[in-house]
Amino acid sequence: MQRSGTMSFKATARAGSNIAFIKYWGVADPHLNIPLNNSISMTLGALHTTTTVEWDVAGYLSADQIVIDGVRAEGPKAERVTRHLDFIRHLAGDRRFRARVVSRNNFPMASGIASSASAFAALTMAACTAIGLSLDRTQLSAIARRGSGSASRSIFGGYVEWERGGSDATSVARQLFPPDYWPLRDVVAVVSTNEKTVSSQNGHALALTSPLNSARVDAVYGMLHEVRNAIALRDLEHLGPLIEQDALAMHAVMMTSRPSLLYWQPGTLEVLHAVRRWREEDGLPVYFTIDAGPNVHLLCEPAFERELLRRLQTLSSVRTVMTSGPGEGAEVIDQHLF
Ligand code: PMV
Repeated sequence: MQRSGTMSFKATARAGSNIAFIKYWGVADPHLNIPLNNSISMTLGALHTTTTVEWDVAGYLSADQIVIDGVRAEGPKAERVTRHLDFIRHLAGDRRFRARVVSRNNFPMASGIASSASAFAALTMAACTAIGLSLDRTQLSAIARRGSGSASRSIFGGYVEWERGGSDATSVARQLFPPDYWPLRDVVAVVSTNEKTVSSQNGHALALTSPLNSARVDAVYGMLHEVRNAIALRDLEHLGPLIEQDALAMHAVMMTSRPSLLYWQPGTLEVLHAVRRWREEDGLPVYFTIDAGPNVHLLCEPAFERELLRRLQTLSSVRTVMTSGPGEGAEVIDQHLF
């Protein structure tokens, strides 16, 4: 790895979350976070994480200090961040430096809105910049992937594909289309903001225990080309059924793994049935997908967003709604959080 000429020890980065159209579920290599299949997502412009990292070159700190959404992180959450910082310390050859990390999300964590994607993309970019590593987006994507697989995609903006690859250097994301290529809307119907009981990180290890897993992975490889094409043609009527099928297939794998994972709540089903009814009976072109949580992401063209929001207000289990279009990839910004 190259070090840039000017050393600065503090940097702040912002990264958008992303919503996967073809999901990442299950790892081939748990150490490197190499997935079982390629995945395709849209980076979200309005739902993001901002993270400031300062390396303690003076040696005041005896351990990394991590604050997430105003709360000092401890236990497994802090250990996961420290492990990621260890890897970056190792790349930079500065193993002694501890870090101060302050991170803020503008959306609720751990509820199926992929906070780990934006969190590890922002952490990677801020920590690498602050320690003076000069890396391109592909290299940053490989590093972010080790923190959280989906974070590899949030390094890039717009429509993004993470290639499974076969090694650390080749299992990386790339941009398929920039954010302004297609202003699709993601309307997130939040039915619960409770922290999920099984993190996606732990869930990936269970995918291989489901008898449905290999069928899903095979199906994904048959769909990738079609999904890329549908995005290229800005064709939601073609894309929508594909993303619904993969979301349901992923949840079928989750439900049939050992132990079984059931992320859905009654509110999840209320939204799914309503969306199908609105589409079939009233012709409202809206399609759903669900990550590792109970909340439902609804994709539509901008012209239908208002009507969708109006209808979501009539559902008793929808607590709040968050909306976003496609956004840029992770970027370094000037406004530090401390
Ligand atoms: O990056 P992770 O380990 O949080 O896994 C993300 C898994 C899903 O959100 C369910 C799917 C995806 O591709 O984002």
